[in-house]
Amino acid sequence: MHAISVDTKSEDRALRWEEAADPVAGAGEVIVDIHATAVNRADLLQRSGHYPPPPGAPDILGLEMAGVVADPAGSDLAAGDRVCALLAGGGYAERVAVDARLLLPVPDDWPMTRAAALPEVFLTAFVNLFGEAGLQGGETVLIHAGASGVGSAAIQLARHAGCRVLASAGNDLKRERCRQFGAEFVCDSRDEGFADEVTGYLNGAGVDVILDVAGGSHLSRNLHCLAPKGRLVLLSLLGGRNSEIDLGLVLTRRLRIIGSLLRSRPVDEKAQIVADFRARFWDPLLAGAIQPVVDRVLPIADAQEAHDVLSANANVGKVVLEVRGSD
Ligand SMILES: NC(=O)c1ccc[n+]([C@@H]2O[C@H](COP(=O)([O-])OP(=O)(O)OC[C@H]3O[C@@H](n4cnc5c(N)ncnc54)[C@H](OP(=O)(O)O)[C@@H]3O)[C@@H](O)[C@H]2O)c1
Repeated sequence: MHAISVDTKSEDRALRWEEAADPVAGAGEVIVDIHATAVNRADLLQRSGHYPPPPGAPDILGLEMAGVVADPAGSDLAAGDRVCALLAGGGYAERVAVDARLLLPVPDDWPMTRAAALPEVFLTAFVNLFGEAGLQGGETVLIHAGASGVGSAAIQLARHAGCRVLASAGNDLKRERCRQFGAEFVCDSRDEGFADEVTGYLNGAGVDVILDVAGGSHLSRNLHCLAPKGRLVLLSLLGGRNSEIDLGLVLTRRLRIIGSLLRSRPVDEKAQIVADFRARFWDPLLAGAIQPVVDRVLPIADAQEAHDVLSANANVGKVVLEVRGSD
């Protein structure tokens, strides 16, 4: 097969579409012919040498894909079934081996490029909002980087669950898109006064849950706009890994700060997340009430250009890579 490889000898760690070994299915795995994959920040980190794949995962980039079952092995799937899945790696390729329990069915009327935009960000938003943070209908949530892949999924899921949704984003166009996804109030993610804006909008009250991607100096400001018993889930450290916070606030408001990674979780845990997501949100997805947001579709050979889009914070939703032009 062909796959994207990282030229670790080149200065910019160039991405090249070239021959690679075919995947071999392990116990419980099926082989899928990939039609589309999508770009995640983790791919950029892995390419730069800072985020090695977890033990046992392929070293090819790519945390999600949509495609067609080529070899169902011992599963109850059939060759030709349209599926998409979360991967621990291997998405930037023509074929991948994936645990059958991670597969979600792709509706007949969905292009593969839409299905490829779903697994990573929707499962991340789902497990962190409703699992880690225990978000309940009627609660208020602040979603940072609301126009990002994860943010666009999180706003829609939280709205659908009956929550009040506030968001942040880096420019006017992104803020408008957040409102379209369902946020009632959107502040500037890069404005240091965002916490005052949020509490001002809520007449002095705080939010119950925050989904944060920045860390760094954002943490202290975030804690200031959490309500008593508020929960903050930290997904990444785009704004830095060090922070000074007022622990008195954490204590007196009984706050919880939760760090969360999806990729390194055991496959059994991921399978449960997939099953729970499917049980709760599959019908609204099929009905179009919740939708994967595709910023643009590029051919897999242009993976490097796709990475540049994320590096420049230029995407709203997902940048998708087409592997086979079947749609
Ligand atoms: N923990 C996990 O399991 C997990 C899973 C998936 C993703 N993630 C992480 O979650 C983050 C969002 O993922 P994604 O796929 O939605 O990424 P994305 O589409 O690339 O969006 C990231 C957005 O973060 C904002 N941002 C960038 N630098 C920032 C900074 N220094 N301070 C504040 N905001 C900044 C930008 O939005 P604005 O221009 O609007 O500010 C940017 O567009 C990524 O960092 C990713 O690695 C974590």
